[in-house]
Amino acid sequence: MQVPVSGTYDSYDTNESMQRREKHSAPSDMLLRLTFVILVAFVVLMQRFTSGFSLRAWPNVMRRGLRMSSTYSSSDRLSFAVKTSPPATYAGDVLVVPLYSDKTNLKARIPATLPKDIQAIIADIIDEGVFKAEASQKQLTRIMNNSVKYIALVGLGPDPKKKESGDMEIASAVRLGKAVASVVKDVKANKVGIFLPTIGNSGLTQLLLGIHYDSYTDNRYKKVPEEGHKPLTLSTVTLVGCPENVSKDSEITHKLTEMIASGVNFARDLVGSPPNYKTPVVIADLAKELASTHNIQCKVLGEKECKDLGMGGYLGVQQGSKYPPQFVHLTYKPDKPTGDVVKVALIGKGLTFDSGGYNLKAGAGSMIELMKFDMGGCAAVLGCAKAIAQLRPKNVEVHFITALCENMISADAMRPGDILVASNGKTIEVLNTDAEGRLTLADALVYAEKLNVDVIVDLATLTGACIVGLGEKLAGLYASDDTLLNDLQSAAKRTDEGVWALPLEASYKELIKSNIADLKNIGAKGGGSITAALFLQEFVEKTKWAHIDMAGPVWDTSNSKPTGYGVKLLTDYILNIKK
Ligand code: BES
Ligand code: MN
Ligand code: ZN
Repeated sequence: MQVPVSGTYDSYDTNESMQRREKHSAPSDMLLRLTFVILVAFVVLMQRFTSGFSLRAWPNVMRRGLRMSSTYSSSDRLSFAVKTSPPATYAGDVLVVPLYSDKTNLKARIPATLPKDIQAIIADIIDEGVFKAEASQKQLTRIMNNSVKYIALVGLGPDPKKKESGDMEIASAVRLGKAVASVVKDVKANKVGIFLPTIGNSGLTQLLLGIHYDSYTDNRYKKVPEEGHKPLTLSTVTLVGCPENVSKDSEITHKLTEMIASGVNFARDLVGSPPNYKTPVVIADLAKELASTHNIQCKVLGEKECKDLGMGGYLGVQQGSKYPPQFVHLTYKPDKPTGDVVKVALIGKGLTFDSGGYNLKAGAGSMIELMKFDMGGCAAVLGCAKAIAQLRPKNVEVHFITALCENMISADAMRPGDILVASNGKTIEVLNTDAEGRLTLADALVYAEKLNVDVIVDLATLTGACIVGLGEKLAGLYASDDTLLNDLQSAAKRTDEGVWALPLEASYKELIKSNIADLKNIGAKGGGSITAALFLQEFVEKTKWAHIDMAGPVWDTSNSKPTGYGVKLLTDYILNIKK
């Protein structure tokens, strides 16, 4: 069947490197260019003759607009060395002492291995009765005549009773890392020691990632980075009194966290970037750059190639945008596989902006101004690619896929009522142009299945309904296979990136049947996240598949920041995958 796309579509230039589409006829285009040149000449002349009128900010914005800098200069990014030392010998700016709360006798929890004078100071602070070691509670104290300038007590909340591994609870480790970052900010510390008599390698990994997480700043769009947006000065993190088995691996753990953190930061930069800067071509170019820097394969399909593959769902969504679509496919293959290689495809929803289309996101609560985050799935997948390409695990091949585009309104945009034909031949009645993510994902899923992978996992900021159900901390997790469900739940636990299993309730499939086409792109009033997942399932035939609806966790509303959700989870899943 022919992909029914609108007539004007064919006349577009599909040159991949072109950011804007030429929509003007040749003569009017010439006229426009001429007017532009005259205008620029006039303005430049004006500037030379008048002193009050300055164009200085303008080229700056232009330069930034041309290419989104996703990587900061290395001095802009937090980096630190990790060392270990016994408690008695530590010297630095701050010694962080984490403590579990204790209603009966908090003082009894002061570690006996700390130097006596520091024990006495902590006992004194506890006697004052303000610091109760509640989760994330912090107390910073300046001390004199000591090898450290500050002691920072950090509360861990109730003791979860020692885990057999001796490791710290993952959520506590992440929180502790965040507290460390905030202490570093408070006193501009250079050298920080963390007293860690009980921690394992996984706990330490998440702790270090927690430090990175709360040190993240985004000063790309400031003319002059404000004080609060300057990068931290942290140079060394010392693990004080760290157990032998952890300290011997601390260098490796540190390298691992740096690689994962670079992926998380990359994802946060992508999500936080404004939609006028991160067009599909800009992101595709960054993916190409990532691939060549880290030695993985990269393929980018333009509009024409996608059309040849019959991707009518994806192409329907993008047809109202002036920016051409870019279908990105990165491949990581192990350098020297030693056994059976598991093949995985990770797909991320890549809407650089979701206006809703003709079903415009209107009114309070529609969150239209935040819809730059609608490529959070793409960011998670590309962030994971960055981490995996550096980590280079042995027996796994990973395909990173995203169908990038923008959902806009124009004379060329899809209409409510249009019928699209996806690349597996299924026809879709578009009853709501705002349910666009599933249309792009449908074609990405069909594409991924053709790669003969063992597993497909997709991540998408797919439904507002999922936020209503699960809030910001948890993503909805759907899986066609119990082992896969389990593996993803375990990865989520190990990385403190929350998921909650939701059902692929088969009887609801009725709700997405169309009267006129095979499917319609919306369900009934209730269960919006489930019907969206069931819609996606229609495009996977036989491969084990999971879907993560990350509409809630993509954005930290209280701090107005992207979270980079999914990078840690996916990377951990890939590193632990078994055939
Ligand atoms: N990108 C949105 C989902 C979304 C909404 C994420 C709010 C985060 C916050 C998605 O494309 C969408 O608009 N979904 C609709 C589906 C509906 C029309 C069936 C929704 O959830 O309202
Ligand atoms: Mn939408
Ligand atoms: Zn969307």
